[in-house]
Amino acid sequence: MKILALTGTKRKGNSILAAKYIAKKLNAELDILNVTELKIEPCKACYACLFGQECMIDDDVNFVFSKLLEADFVLISSAIYWLDATGMMKALLDRMFMALPHMKELSRKKGAVIYFYGFEELRGWGANTYNILLRVLGIEPLAILPIHAALPGEALTEENVKKLDLLAEAIRKEERLKLDGQCPVCLSEVFRAKEGKLECTVCRSKLTDDLQVVETGDVLSYDWMVKHYGVLRGFKEKFIEQREVLARLREKYGV
Ligand SMILES: Cc1cc2nc3c(=O)[nH]c(=O)nc-3n(C[C@H](O)[C@H](O)[C@H](O)COP(=O)(O)O)c2cc1C
Repeated sequence: MKILALTGTKRKGNSILAAKYIAKKLNAELDILNVTELKIEPCKACYACLFGQECMIDDDVNFVFSKLLEADFVLISSAIYWLDATGMMKALLDRMFMALPHMKELSRKKGAVIYFYGFEELRGWGANTYNILLRVLGIEPLAILPIHAALPGEALTEENVKKLDLLAEAIRKEERLKLDGQCPVCLSEVFRAKEGKLECTVCRSKLTDDLQVVETGDVLSYDWMVKHYGVLRGFKEKFIEQREVLARLREKYGV
């Protein structure tokens, strides 16, 4: 098995260490792609890629796809920075309309997330950003594994190794690993209170306060995304129809 580990932290610390540990445990080949070493420009919101055209931006995003396509397993192993994913991982996520032509092939691959956080009270919502990064590639995560580790090396404390071993076993068996506090449908860890229920912020399933599913949501599932990209393509017609009205609104403020 060939694992591609995507990481978004500059230091040689827990994220890289955990990826190496998992690969060794599984006797797998490992390719580490550190997004902080790549050139990733902001999306220009031209939507050309959703119409089958090449992205006009000349940077490393296509290189990321070439690496993803070579892999059997995509492991996001990265850190929490300011309660969220690290900025470079979000920069990559923002370019992922470009995943559309690759989604079908990538959806046949497996993937998982390990995320590191230094402080329990600052764990935040980055688990979801990483979960979404796999989903927009078309990959359903097998697991989202939180690891409490601040100093570089703490990924491999006795307690954390037990968690990494659980993940390695899930990868070996290709079995889903749902942890306490995660949405049973999409493994999200962030919920919104709505009409006396909890709503998952990723898939929009409705849940009881002990996370039993009341109504299953499908937002950001593979099929939902294919439909969503169709909706976005429809916005082109809408924009052409409303172009002059919208231009007048922008002109008022010189935009
Ligand atoms: C700029 C920066 C911001 C951070 N923000 C958070 C945070 O919001 N919450 C948290 O729990 N840990 C935070 N941390 C700690 C890291 O998540 C933690 O040290 C992690 O193990 C780093 O992973 P690495 O060793 O792979 O780089 C932050 C670290 C840095 C450098």
